[in-house]
Amino acid sequence: MTRRRLIIDCDPGHDDFAAIALAVTSGVFEIEAITAVCGNAPLPRTAANALAIADALGTSIPVYAGAVAPLLHRYDFPAAFHGVTGLDSAGATLPPPRRPLAPGHAALEIAARVNAAPGEITLAVVGPMTNVALALALDPDIASKVRELVFMGGGIVGGNVTARAEFNIWADPEAAAIVLNSGIKTTMFGLDVTNRAFIDTDDLKRLRAAVPAPNPVADIIQFYSERSGDIAAGRVPGPALHDTCPIAWLIDPTLFQTESLSVTVETAPGPGYGATDADRRTWAPDHLPRIDVALELDRPRLARLVTDALVEAARRIADRR
Ligand code: BDR
Ligand code: CA
Repeated sequence: MTRRRLIIDCDPGHDDFAAIALAVTSGVFEIEAITAVCGNAPLPRTAANALAIADALGTSIPVYAGAVAPLLHRYDFPAAFHGVTGLDSAGATLPPPRRPLAPGHAALEIAARVNAAPGEITLAVVGPMTNVALALALDPDIASKVRELVFMGGGIVGGNVTARAEFNIWADPEAAAIVLNSGIKTTMFGLDVTNRAFIDTDDLKRLRAAVPAPNPVADIIQFYSERSGDIAAGRVPGPALHDTCPIAWLIDPTLFQTESLSVTVETAPGPGYGATDADRRTWAPDHLPRIDVALELDRPRLARLVTDALVEAARRIADRR
């Protein structure tokens, strides 16, 4: 079976780490590049984290740094959830990477790679969409050459940064509007499903037991669990690993149910800034662009897939020490 060619655009980020681990260990992708964007932390941090992850997992996937700032929005980085490094740990950290970032800007790289392989490359976007929007601004023709785009962001049910806006979209709503209006075949994994994409206490125990200490994967996930408001409130037993959803869907689409909807991003200043609005009327005007939106998931099966991937990642990292 030919492997799906993939670029992962991310802002690691604990759940970005889980998403990359899932993609790498699945063996079903030819991961052409990992591109980093500012989001959960400033760009130097997210780029360094992406490189550390790719290297620790034993890959030679090139990692490119991208946008230093969103197109318009300026905000304080959310250190409360991911720590000041963007990938803080409750104990052991990833080993320092043994190779440098690849030269060149992420947006240029996305455009160049898509142009070089029309119809071949899937984009998985699990951070703010600045890099992809910049690539589309540099070369709008790439919209017709991307095989498809999957992303974690938004939510029909509501937000996590504000009542209505989810972090990735809120961080750069103008970029998200550019991407969602580009005409690229797109599937959205918003809080509708990702808030339920948690692993549970047994999964965490299995990860902890997978390798003797130091076990940076378990420690990194533990840090993220300790910062989860939903766990503290007793709503979920373990951390929601939002960014794993689009990757999991590419691996096994039967894990999710999707609906074709017209989704717009609110870019006007005000309480709805960064919200994703979906028109769920059956008679919604059909001239509006539609995307597929994941609305249901098989949580236990997803948690098993993700935990297996984290366990495998923990073993690979231990083997490289
Ligand atoms: C999204 O925001 C970030 O904190 C996570 O990495 C994820 O991509 C969830 O809202
Ligand atoms: Ca992310």
